[in-house]
Amino acid sequence: MRKGPCHGKLWPFCEAGGKDAAGTQRKGQDVARHLITSAIPYINGIKHLGNLVGSQLPADLYARYLRGRGHEVLFLCATDEHGTPAELAAAKAGQPVAEYCAEMHQVQARLAEGFRLSFDHFGRSSSPQNHRLTQHFAGRLADAGLIEDVSERQVYSVADRRFLPDRYIEGTCPNCGYDRARGDQCENCTKQLDPTDLINPRSAISGSTDLEVRETKHLYLRQSAMRKQLSDWIDSKADWPILTTSIAKKWLNDGDGLQDRGITRDLDWGVPVRRGDRDWPGMEGKVFYVWFDAPIEYIACAQEWQDAGKGADWERWWRTDKGADDVRYTQFMGKDNVPFHTLSFPVTIMGSGEPWKLVDYIKSFNYLNYDGGQFSTSQGRGVFMDQALSILPADYWRWWLLSHAPETADSEFTWENFQASVNKDLADVLGNFVSRVTKFCRSKFGEAVPEGGEWGARETALVADLEARVRAYERHMDAIEVRKAAAELRAIWAAGNEYLQAAGPWTVIKTDPETAAMQTRLGLNLIRLYAVLSAPFIPDAAATMLGAIGAEGAGWPGDLATALTALPAGHGFEVPEVLFAKISDEDRAEWQARFAGVRT
Ligand code: 2FM
Ligand code: ZN
Repeated sequence: MRKGPCHGKLWPFCEAGGKDAAGTQRKGQDVARHLITSAIPYINGIKHLGNLVGSQLPADLYARYLRGRGHEVLFLCATDEHGTPAELAAAKAGQPVAEYCAEMHQVQARLAEGFRLSFDHFGRSSSPQNHRLTQHFAGRLADAGLIEDVSERQVYSVADRRFLPDRYIEGTCPNCGYDRARGDQCENCTKQLDPTDLINPRSAISGSTDLEVRETKHLYLRQSAMRKQLSDWIDSKADWPILTTSIAKKWLNDGDGLQDRGITRDLDWGVPVRRGDRDWPGMEGKVFYVWFDAPIEYIACAQEWQDAGKGADWERWWRTDKGADDVRYTQFMGKDNVPFHTLSFPVTIMGSGEPWKLVDYIKSFNYLNYDGGQFSTSQGRGVFMDQALSILPADYWRWWLLSHAPETADSEFTWENFQASVNKDLADVLGNFVSRVTKFCRSKFGEAVPEGGEWGARETALVADLEARVRAYERHMDAIEVRKAAAELRAIWAAGNEYLQAAGPWTVIKTDPETAAMQTRLGLNLIRLYAVLSAPFIPDAAATMLGAIGAEGAGWPGDLATALTALPAGHGFEVPEVLFAKISDEDRAEWQARFAGVRT
């Protein structure tokens, strides 16, 4: 976490101001403290690029942007370590589940670093903090009469000699007919399911269909008792993306998502069922359902962050009675996670009767498909985070993924599109600009910003154009419109290239060295501007650019006329290494073939 100049103050006190030309407060920018969480990825293996762009990466973009603008940000993520995904994956790996989770947490943490995901803390839902907090919430909900004991009929596998909750059972979805639906949710149509809903069920452990239904006792969260409160709360969120509210309202109004849900399971691994710090008679040997404890980890993660010595006063982010009412809280997630974050988790928070912070804005994403089909963890189809970093640096992926984020509809990764986008946007437009300006300056004026004369009409026009574009870029970033922001950033880079092409300092220098020097000085200042604006998307390249021009601490631009004169004559610089290498047709074809099959 970094404290910016806006700490404790409202946005309009920032250098760049917080109001548009009409004096209206910009959406999302009227508070100076931002809590950001990304949906916490399951521990069961390395995530693919579709997972990455659905939550962690756009959350990182937003966190970096807000920090860049001087806000105080707490950005949290963790691994989701309980439930059947963890148990099944550990069994497959032949490891005790605790050991498997500890190892995979390290693997995911390293990959997050590789992609430059700037979490203030990357926690674990299996942490003692989360155990305690989950049991605490369960106790509060029980005290409020929102939990009831239900004797229910559950699927039991005779062959496996155990109950088969959630993903331990697979079958055909009664809603859409998808034949690999899991016992907790259909990943095809997002419907939340109970194992007994599945058609032609089979054990995910043994494949056995020798299943019977047996009685067992479980706790149910009485979500239906909070329908009115939830409905009013969701209705009050008029600014949420349509994808988020449409899913929330569908579950709310169908009555489907508000069925009371079982929050305990017959599993060994998980948070033991306790009522606060007391035993829960009848619940011995059972654990809480993974979807009950996972979102509570968002809160526990802040405690872990503090306990790890990375910060203090975690409650000022999470308790409205301890200062969190001036925090703006934004969650990022894929669309399949929306019902849990708009219904179940808010029931936990509201139902506790305690002053916990509720989410202010939920940014959700559609799915990214892979080359004519779906990314799939279970089938190992697509490019996974480790594979991606083994062939190209993070910025290449970050740029493509964010500029093609599946915001309004599903989008598709193709190698052709990836190659074209990297070669054009990153290499031809941005990389080439930086290289031309710095090399030209070095060869004609040396490695320092040249003096030159005053700006002329072309420069004034460019600055006016950029002023409008940068403010539009900010508006898109404030509104978390990721693709629009990427398009505007690309246009900002292109404007510099077009200026350079039209100004032609390499020709002008022959007759008017003074003007060529001024154009070059502006070019070097544009590199500084581009680095600052681009850092949320491509942080490594931005750091290289800033390092090369000796402007490491450069802040977010206020008015552009000032920002573009920040590097004075005489300021030293170096020509950076090539920022982005082009992807050749051979590389593209090789990668396409390499990742066409199924990951083993
Ligand atoms: O879908 C998933 O990957 C879940 N592990 C997300 C959990 S988000 C939250 F609730 F913590
Ligand atoms: Zn379905």
